[in-house]
Amino acid sequence: STVAEEKQYRPNFHFSPKKGWMNDPNGLYYKDGIYHMFFQYFPDGNKWGPMHWGHTTSKDLVKWEEQPIALYPDELGYIFSGSAVVDKNNTSGFGTGADNPVVAVYTYHDPKREKDGKTDVESQGIAYSVDNGKSWIKYRNNPVLKNPGIRDFRDPKVFWDTKRKQWVMTLAAQDRAHFYTSKDLKEWMFQSEFGKDSGGHGGVWECPDLFPIKVEGSNEEKWVLIVNINPGGPNRGSAGQYFVGDFDGRSFTIDEHFSKQLQKEKACWLDWGRDNYASVSFDNIPQDKRIIIGWMSNWDYAQEVPTEAWRSSTTTAREVSLKKTKEGYILKNVPVSQLEKYKGKAVKKEISLASGKKLIDKGEIDLSKAVIDVDLKKMTKGVYSFALKNSLGEQVIFGIDNNTKELFIDRTKSGKTDFKSNFADNISKAPLTKSYKNAKFKIVLDKTSIEIFFNDGEKVMTEIFFPNESFSELSLTSDTKGSTLNINAHQINIK
Ligand code: FRU
Repeated sequence: STVAEEKQYRPNFHFSPKKGWMNDPNGLYYKDGIYHMFFQYFPDGNKWGPMHWGHTTSKDLVKWEEQPIALYPDELGYIFSGSAVVDKNNTSGFGTGADNPVVAVYTYHDPKREKDGKTDVESQGIAYSVDNGKSWIKYRNNPVLKNPGIRDFRDPKVFWDTKRKQWVMTLAAQDRAHFYTSKDLKEWMFQSEFGKDSGGHGGVWECPDLFPIKVEGSNEEKWVLIVNINPGGPNRGSAGQYFVGDFDGRSFTIDEHFSKQLQKEKACWLDWGRDNYASVSFDNIPQDKRIIIGWMSNWDYAQEVPTEAWRSSTTTAREVSLKKTKEGYILKNVPVSQLEKYKGKAVKKEISLASGKKLIDKGEIDLSKAVIDVDLKKMTKGVYSFALKNSLGEQVIFGIDNNTKELFIDRTKSGKTDFKSNFADNISKAPLTKSYKNAKFKIVLDKTSIEIFFNDGEKVMTEIFFPNESFSELSLTSDTKGSTLNINAHQINIK
C-alpha cells in the first residue's frame, strides 16, 4: 500500500515530490533567505511524461517544502531543464520597481515536431517572477533562442558575467557545449563551441554549467565546466563530468595542466556512483559559495525503481571546491555545512580492527537518517569493506581496496534489485591513484541512499538501494588487523 511504501522508502531528508515523477533539478537560485529548487516533473504519472517545473523551497538546503507547480507545458511544448537568475539590474525590464525579477531560462521541447521526425524540436524560452518565485509569467515573445538545426539543443544554464557585464548561457548541443551571450536575457548571440576533442562522448551531453571558482589555498581563479552525459558514465548510464579551464567572455579553453590529466583519465567525474545526475549549481549564493544538487538516479533504471506513488529524490546539497595537485585538478564536493545543524544522537568509538567487527549495532542510532565519519589509520594493503545490514541478510557493501586501489559500492544483495537487470549486475568502482595509509570517509545515509565522500570529497560515490527492511547495523567485514578506526556517527534529527 501507499502507506507502507511511504514508511519504507520515502527519504527522510532528501527531497522527493509528494507524488509523481521527478528528474533533473532546475532553476536553482537563492534570494531573500530562501533557496529555490525547481525540478523536471510529471505530476500525473510515475514515469517520465509531459514535463512541468515542480517547485520546492528551503531556508537551509536540508529541509524542503514543496510548492505549487511553477511552469506547465504550453503550445510551444514541454518545459525541459534550465536555470534561473536574479536579474539585479533589471536588464530584462521585467521588474516592476519593487523587487528584482527572477528570470527562468528553460528549453521548450515540442512533442509534435518530434513525432514528425523534425530536427528543430528544441528551443529556449523564458519566464519571470516578480514575487520571488511564487508565480511565473511566460514571456510573450518566446522562444528567445530558436533551434539552429541541432536535434538535441537544450538545458540553458545562465549566469551574470560581472567582468564583461553580460549574461552568458551554456547550452548542451548534441555532445558539445555552446556558449551564447545576451544583454537582456531576450536576445542571444552565439559565441563558441566546446568539446569536440575533450572528455567523454559515450552519450549525449546534457545539463551543462559554467562557473568561476578560486583554487583552494590561492587567489588563482579558474573556470569549471560541468557537463552531464547520458549514457557514458564511469559505471554506466548517466553521470557528470567536469573540465577546468578559462573563460574570456566568449569561449572556454582547457587549462594546460588539466589537459594532461584529461589525456590520462579521458574524462574527470564529479561523482563515481551510479546515482548522481544533472548536478548544476545555484545562482546568487553570497560569498562565492558554489552549491550543487543532483538527481539521485540514473536513466538506466529510473523509471522502474520500486516506488509507485512518487519516483526519485535529489542528492544532498553539496559545496564544491577546486584543488590543484601535481596530477591535475580535483573538483571536490562535500555536504553543505547546514546538515550539521540537524545532528542528534551520537555514537563515538575508537576500534582496533579485526574482521567481523560490529561498528554500529542495532538500536544505537537510526541508520536510515545518519551521517557517519570514519577515520582509518595505519592501513595495510588489504581491503576495508563495510556492510550495512538488516535482519533479512540484505546488505550494501562499500569501502576501499588498498590493493587494487579503488573505492567500491556493492548493492548486488541490497534487497529489491530485480526490477531492472542493469540495476545491480555489477559492483561500482572508482579508481584511486595510490594506496592509502590513512583515509577518511564521510557517509550520508537515508532510507534508500548512500553518499560516500572520500578524503574531504576528493572522490565521491552516490548510490540508491531498496532493502525489504531498513538497514540497522554497520559492520566491518574484511580482515584488516593492525589498523585503527575512529567512528563518529550522528543521527539526523529532522521532521
Ligand atoms: C536530463 C534531461 C535533460 C532534459 C530533461 C528532460 O536528464 O534529459 O537533458 O532537459 O532531462 O526531462
